[in-house]
Amino acid sequence: MDAAHFRHVVGHLASGVTVITTDAGDLRYGMTASSVTSLSADPPMMLACLNNAVPTAEAVTASGRYAVNVLGDGQGELARQFASPSPDKFRGVAVHPGTLGLPLLSDALAHIECEVVERVTGGTHTIFLGHVRSATAGNGQPLTYFRGGFGRFAFAKDDEVYGRARELVLSRAYPADTALPLEDLAARLEVDDAAAFYALTRLSSDGLVRRDADRGYVIAPLDVRTSDETFDARLAVELGVLALALDHVTDDEVAELNRRFDTMAALLVGERFVDFHGYLDANYAMHEYLVSLAGNPLLTNTFGRLGIKNVMTRSFGVTPETSQKFVEAQGRLVHGVATRNPDAARRGAVEYCELAKERVREILTSNGGRI
Ligand SMILES: Cc1cc2nc3c(=O)[nH]c(=O)nc-3n(C[C@H](O)[C@H](O)[C@H](O)COP(=O)(O)O)c2cc1C
Repeated sequence: MDAAHFRHVVGHLASGVTVITTDAGDLRYGMTASSVTSLSADPPMMLACLNNAVPTAEAVTASGRYAVNVLGDGQGELARQFASPSPDKFRGVAVHPGTLGLPLLSDALAHIECEVVERVTGGTHTIFLGHVRSATAGNGQPLTYFRGGFGRFAFAKDDEVYGRARELVLSRAYPADTALPLEDLAARLEVDDAAAFYALTRLSSDGLVRRDADRGYVIAPLDVRTSDETFDARLAVELGVLALALDHVTDDEVAELNRRFDTMAALLVGERFVDFHGYLDANYAMHEYLVSLAGNPLLTNTFGRLGIKNVMTRSFGVTPETSQKFVEAQGRLVHGVATRNPDAARRGAVEYCELAKERVREILTSNGGRI
């Protein structure tokens, strides 16, 4: 098994992040480690897998004890500091002695001090089995690690609450530009304030609500400017992708793009959406695939953050009536890609963008200028 491939695959196993600390002689040692697990409850035991080449591993062997400092949300910098070799890993870090006298990172989410009872060799690493001598935990959210990046933990329940809050806003349960107090949202969704706050934070990054200095969270109105900017941004990304990718797009990629186009086209029958949300998902899946042809994850990610689906749901979702012109313009875009004809593809993309902007303008006009 190729090591890079293994690292990529195993990066999908999300974990918490800790700093393992110990002392040996007069020196303090610390290193970031995610291969740390609770092992048994009775007796209470932990294990930590440390690379033999790292000074901290040698120090744990020498001292026979280690502390697990569980990092909290927002301590990514600290994790980086303890993952880089340095003569003074602890610079600028608040530390206090634990029950065993080990250096504990004062701002960590939890501390667990262990005495090593057994060492097992596994490849380049040693597994240090530790008997837990003291354990304390504070309040807060943990730092997480997934596919090489730090992130946050979210309860599935919070995601579900966010989904319901999003539905409320998209279904226009609150008029545009009205305040959306935290307590109101919490009461309406029958959840606690923390879950409602999480939902508001996510809605804010979706652009569906915004923070107003005087009124708190406010339903962000969808107006012509927002719609034009969103569709123009999508066009700019797609034109860039066509310039970057059209030369080397493969037949398999064209087949997949066509397949996605057909799925979408089947959901717009005559001049009506047969399944609006299905159409929206299929439309997004096709355009996202087109963007992915540039092979640049940053670009695909940027495309995802444009909030296209939000704008489309809030505008096109108002009425089942639409037009085959949308499918035809996108058909010309896809055909241009399939025939490696950049002018035709570009014309299709521009035409589709103009049609979308015009249609949103009509819908907004018949709804008093904004939604
Ligand atoms: C998120 C993260 C998790 C890590 N987990 C481990 C681990 O479980 N075991 C390990 O030996 N190294 C792990 N490392 C790498 C060490 O932190 C890194 O090799 C560190 O530089 C070792 O300390 P040193 O500076 O004393 O050599 C991890 C690094 C990061 C960023």
